[in-house]
Amino acid sequence: MTRALKRDRAVTVTVVRDVETLFEVMSVRTLVYVGEQNCPYREEFDGNDLAGATHLLVRIGKEPVGTMRIRWFADFAKIERVAIRPSHRSGEASAALVKTALELAARKGYRRVLGHIQTRLLKYWMRTAKVRVRDGRPAFKFSDFDYVEIERDLEPPANAISGDTPAMVLLRPEGDWDRPGVLERPAARGRSR
Ligand SMILES: CC(C)(COP(=O)(O)OP(=O)(O)OC[C@H]1O[C@@H](n2cnc3c(N)ncnc32)[C@H](O)[C@@H]1OP(=O)(O)O)[C@@H](O)C(=O)NCCC(=O)NCCS
Repeated sequence: MTRALKRDRAVTVTVVRDVETLFEVMSVRTLVYVGEQNCPYREEFDGNDLAGATHLLVRIGKEPVGTMRIRWFADFAKIERVAIRPSHRSGEASAALVKTALELAARKGYRRVLGHIQTRLLKYWMRTAKVRVRDGRPAFKFSDFDYVEIERDLEPPANAISGDTPAMVLLRPEGDWDRPGVLERPAARGRSR
C-alpha cells in the first residue's frame, strides 16, 4: 500500500514520442500560458512545436503537471515554454524537468544552451539551471512580458551521441540510448535478406 502510494506520486520526466503524450503537453501549456497568463492561442502555439523540437513532459504519478520544449540548432539548444501547473509548483517537478533537459542536451553533444526567459524569473533560472545573462544582448518584449537572454555551458559526457556512436545505439528512441530499442528485439517475422 505504502509502495503503491509512493509510486502514485513519483516524479517522472518523459521525452514525448507519441501523439497522446503531446496532447498532455498541450493541455499543460494551454492551462498555464493561454489560461493563466492570458497568452493568445496563436502566440503560444507558434509553429515551432513540430519542426525541430523535442518536448518533455513531467508527471506526478500518472498526472501530467509540467512541460518544456527544447529546440535544436547547429551549435546550441534552446529551452522554451517551461510550465508547471499552478497546483504542482514549488515542488520537485520543475527541477526534474530542467535537469532532464540539460542532461539530454549534453548527451546529444551540445555545449551550449540558450533561453529567452521572463525577466521576473531570472532568480529562478539562475538557481535551477545555473544560467547567466548573455552579455551585450538587449532585453526584449513579447506576449506582454519582458525577456532577457540567458545561457549556460554544458560538458558533454564521454558517451555523448556523435557520428561515431554505434549504428544500433543511434537507432534507439531519442533520449533512451542506454537500452536496446525495438529494432534490436528478436525479429518476429523470420529471416529476411
Ligand atoms: C516558472 C515555473 C515553471 C517555476 O515553477 P516551480 O519551480 O514549480 O515553482 P514556483 O512557481 O513556486 O516558482 C519558483 C520561483 O519563481 C518565482 N516566481 C514564480 N512565478 C513568479 C512570478 N509570476 N513573478 C515573480 N516570481 C515568480 C517564485 O517566487 C519562486 O521563487 P523563489 O523560489 O525564490 O521563492 C512556474 O512558476 C510556471 O509554470 N510559471 C508559469 C509559466 C512561466 O512563466 N514560465 C516561465 C517562462 S520563462
